[in-house]
Amino acid sequence: MTSAAATADSMRDYYARRAATYERVYFKPERQADLRTMEAWLGAPFAGREVLEIACGTGWWTPHGAREAASWLATDLNPETMELARTKPLPASVRFAEVDAYTLDGLGVQRFSGAFAGCWWSHVPRAQLAPWLELLHARLDGGARVVLLDNSFVPASSTPLSRRDADGNTYQQRALDDGSVHEVLKNFPTRGEAIAMLGPRARDVEWIDHAHYWILSYELS
Ligand SMILES: C[S@@+](CC[C@H](N)C(=O)[O-])C[C@H]1O[C@@H](n2cnc3c(N)ncnc32)[C@H](O)[C@@H]1O
Repeated sequence: MTSAAATADSMRDYYARRAATYERVYFKPERQADLRTMEAWLGAPFAGREVLEIACGTGWWTPHGAREAASWLATDLNPETMELARTKPLPASVRFAEVDAYTLDGLGVQRFSGAFAGCWWSHVPRAQLAPWLELLHARLDGGARVVLLDNSFVPASSTPLSRRDADGNTYQQRALDDGSVHEVLKNFPTRGEAIAMLGPRARDVEWIDHAHYWILSYELS
């Protein structure tokens, strides 16, 4: 197995085991102001669009993003996290599908006019970001709106980094309630690094810094 495949497998397993306790991270007091601002912001970019959500997890962002969308397909590789997402107060336009973000197999020939991924970018190995974005963009029509959001590193709030590998990926040691400890790849790109990855179809690029999160929003030509 390649190290990229091993990283992808361990990430899937870690989030399956963490599903029931995952949303604790959304109750950190210092993140509440950012979260309310971002939740309120997230509906408008997708108004009237047919949206693909990558790695929806427990669906924290799904009701907010899908608020004004024409349709919203929330996908994740783990049924454990999607079971929780299904219990959210969701617009009738939301559907779910088990889809691997690295292949997008299972989507058939579907194309979309919007795409969203929350806290996914940070888990993609740096060498796989450009191919992953290309794979995603290939599913999107011209004029599609893409919103990617993720954590910023805030020393007083974030799990410390435990190491950096030769490709520049950073890692954290995370403990679960069952006592297991997992090494999780978690990158914190700068604005410049992230925008440089987007490829030639990205236009109207906007980077929004919040105290604990960043948002990258753009349109595809
Ligand atoms: C950090 S969580 C983000 C969840 C949610 N988007 C959020 O922002 O709260 C990462 C998610 O990626 C999912 N995941 C892991 N590997 C995946 C893969 N190869 N394809 C799709 N989803 C995957 C996990 O099940 C988990 O729900």
